[in-house]
Amino acid sequence: MKLLFIADIMGKPGRQAVQHHLPQLVGEQKLDIVIANCENSAGGTGFTAKIAGQLFNLGIHLLTGGNHSFDNKDGAAYLAATDRVLRPHNFPAGNPGSGRGIIPLPDGGEMLVINLQGRVFMLPIDCPFQTADTLLAEWGDRGPVIVDMHAEASSEKIALARHLDGRVTAIFGTHTHVQTADAQVLPGGTALISDAGMTGPHGGVIGMETEFVVHRFRYQTLRRFQVSKDDIRLQGALLEFDDDTGQALSIEAIDLPLAL
Ligand SMILES: [Fe+2]
Ligand SMILES: [Fe+2]
Repeated sequence: MKLLFIADIMGKPGRQAVQHHLPQLVGEQKLDIVIANCENSAGGTGFTAKIAGQLFNLGIHLLTGGNHSFDNKDGAAYLAATDRVLRPHNFPAGNPGSGRGIIPLPDGGEMLVINLQGRVFMLPIDCPFQTADTLLAEWGDRGPVIVDMHAEASSEKIALARHLDGRVTAIFGTHTHVQTADAQVLPGGTALISDAGMTGPHGGVIGMETEFVVHRFRYQTLRRFQVSKDDIRLQGALLEFDDDTGQALSIEAIDLPLAL
């Protein structure tokens, strides 16, 4: 089976890149499943129910999130009403939504999707390793498992991949918005890319206009960020896996410019 993971969709430019590329990719690559991270899809911070609906209509089966999942009020409320938009599961209990989702597979089986968040240079939430172990114990061997590990540190993402090697089909790292050159299948059969990148404008600073971010770093005072418009790309990774064993066969990073 073939799965496309689309990295953090950033604002309107990111949504345009998905709209432009996804229908063609589904046909050309014979994609069975499409998963995307939507934490930045509404103006760079958070998502809305309307945007989630538009992304589902483009062929995305399930959306994941991260530290920005709760930023938009509408999106945060929608998390409680849908099982197709995840947020990191290891946030404290009492937050809306869940980081555990199920996608029905074309052959009648089911796929588990787990969304986690790291703790290095991030909020001190529950342990992503223990959370993954608990969710996997509940799932058993019902079918393939995909993990979106939303984290700052490559080391934490690679350590989680090593910890889960042989127990999940793939781990897609997200959050840094910078694609890593380490897509690989680990010895136990788990595919890894420590960061799938960002779907949106690459001309500024990780998706935001240069001027505002440079101001913040130089003067240490807050400036409202604005989503950049330059060098729009769809980034992510293509995964091929054996749906009987749940083992990954190959993983390849993708980086497609939006031809204007
Ligand atoms: Fe992001
Ligand atoms: Fe993030």
